[in-house]
Amino acid sequence: MNSFELNKIAGGVLAALLLMFGSRTLLDVFASEHKPEKAGWALPVTEGPAASGPAAPAAAFNVAEVLGLVSKASADSGKDVAKRCLQCHTVDKGGKNLVGPNLYGLVNRKVAAHEGFSYSEALKKHGGDWSWDKLAEYLHDPKTAAPGNKMAFNGIKDNAELADLLAYLGKLSDTPPAPPK
Ligand code: HEC
Repeated sequence: MNSFELNKIAGGVLAALLLMFGSRTLLDVFASEHKPEKAGWALPVTEGPAASGPAAPAAAFNVAEVLGLVSKASADSGKDVAKRCLQCHTVDKGGKNLVGPNLYGLVNRKVAAHEGFSYSEALKKHGGDWSWDKLAEYLHDPKTAAPGNKMAFNGIKDNAELADLLAYLGKLSDTPPAPPK
């Protein structure tokens, strides 16, 4: 073995060492950059409303919880919440379709089936009836509940407001449905 070959071997060993240590350092950097700020899992916010008023984060959404509030909710307050819908919907019996369909008799009505309204394919595909839970999910977050539907509305994020709204919507009917259990 001449010194030239020895040099090549030494060079190879060095390169291998460099690679090992180099990637170790990279891994360390990677790992340290991804250390969580707090130990443990991030849980959804479950604290009650903070004293600071309207800026407090909304309680986590849970359909069963919202539906549990409906029987004791205030349809009168719900009527106020529904003002946010009136730029696009009428709510009276036989009311005309605006940007969105008339909402009279909505609860348990077939999805995307009001006469004379041209629904998006996305909402037609949503299918079924507007049961209490389906309605709660849609009105909490229309974009997530029925992806691609064309109702340009952010949703009602406050559980109590949503329950009031549902109580009100239930009353818009010739034969009001029983409140959810
Ligand atoms: C900016 C206009 C707009 C606002 C505000 C709005 N909607 Fe809509 N809504 C629509 C449109 C448009 C559709 C039809 C969506 C489609 O076909 O994809 C729709 C559809 C619906 C449907 C489905 C009806 C059916 O026949 O299947 C419900 C339920 C509904 N809206 C309830 C509400 C409620 C309750 C509010 C207020 C809290 C509200 N919307 C606010 C535009 C609006």
